[in-house]
Amino acid sequence: MRKTILTGDRPSGRLHLGHYVGSLESRVKLQDNFEQFVMIADVQALTDNFETPEKITESVYEVAKDYLAVGIDPEKTTIFIQSQIPEIAELTLYFLNLVTIGRLERNPTVKAEIQQKGYENSLPAGFFCYPVNQAADISIFQAELVPVGDDQIPMIEQTNEIVRKFNRIYKTSCLRECQAYLSHAPRLVGIDGKSKASKSLNNALYLSDTPAEIKQKVFQMFTDPDHLRVSDPGKIEGNAVFAYLDAFHPDKEEVASLKAHYQRGGLGDVTIKNILNTTLQNLLLPMRERREKYNYNDIKNMLYAGTHKARKVAINTIEQVRSAIGINYFT
Ligand code: TRP
Repeated sequence: MRKTILTGDRPSGRLHLGHYVGSLESRVKLQDNFEQFVMIADVQALTDNFETPEKITESVYEVAKDYLAVGIDPEKTTIFIQSQIPEIAELTLYFLNLVTIGRLERNPTVKAEIQQKGYENSLPAGFFCYPVNQAADISIFQAELVPVGDDQIPMIEQTNEIVRKFNRIYKTSCLRECQAYLSHAPRLVGIDGKSKASKSLNNALYLSDTPAEIKQKVFQMFTDPDHLRVSDPGKIEGNAVFAYLDAFHPDKEEVASLKAHYQRGGLGDVTIKNILNTTLQNLLLPMRERREKYNYNDIKNMLYAGTHKARKVAINTIEQVRSAIGINYFT
């Protein structure tokens, strides 16, 4: 039997090249060897966007289109929408009894986000508790592996604590512990070469950008401010163009020789930017072609079918959960 994998994204905008190297690329590979579920976590996204729900709901289709564009194949991967599986919300509620406020406060991922968002004095309970919701996402699908970046490891630990406690208290083995399947992809920087690529910093290249937008962003990339003449030696560290060549150029030896040439002097920024532009246009062209094959109704049908399939799994688990607790009154 193939192992079950669950991953997901909060939909709050289109996906960019940072998502591609961080997770999308590996999902395309994993779908051949695993039973893969990919969740569009709109309920989780609402925990910090509840006043602007349209930001989330409009992104659900964008994210789904990005998935199909990169080659996530709905025949192999079950893509579904979190909010349409009410059993996840139900399991979250049972799980909340098994977690203390103190334990949630110590979750490093949430702690960092609370600071980032300036929630110190007005922390919404829904946001504070989203790790419990995530534990429900993972365990309701009996996921064995959860592909995540290292920032999400505390989520996996907390999930397993809850699962163990549930199984112990209700004398069952209906929920299974999971393992993080760590991504070793380095974080992709933005065009500024400093911070990581992100929507809020407005420094990312989107999978759905037009060829002209990609070219424009490549030519805006931070390189080496001291590299004034082509003949001057240039720096690689902090140079966004080389960070992107490392991440996307198919020929590593070619990149190594470009780096050496740049450091020696004699290789201009315009030349390396043209090389990067060609690399990225080649990467994005098949994605653009795939994206154009799907219209609104195709996406809707795909999401409907995936959600229906995922819900069956969730219903099966929640029935076991209810009978373990003893609240299966009518069966
Ligand atoms: N927390 C993840 C993020 O912010 C999204 C997510 C929600 C998720 N539920 C999940 C990821 C379950 C993996 C497994 O991107």
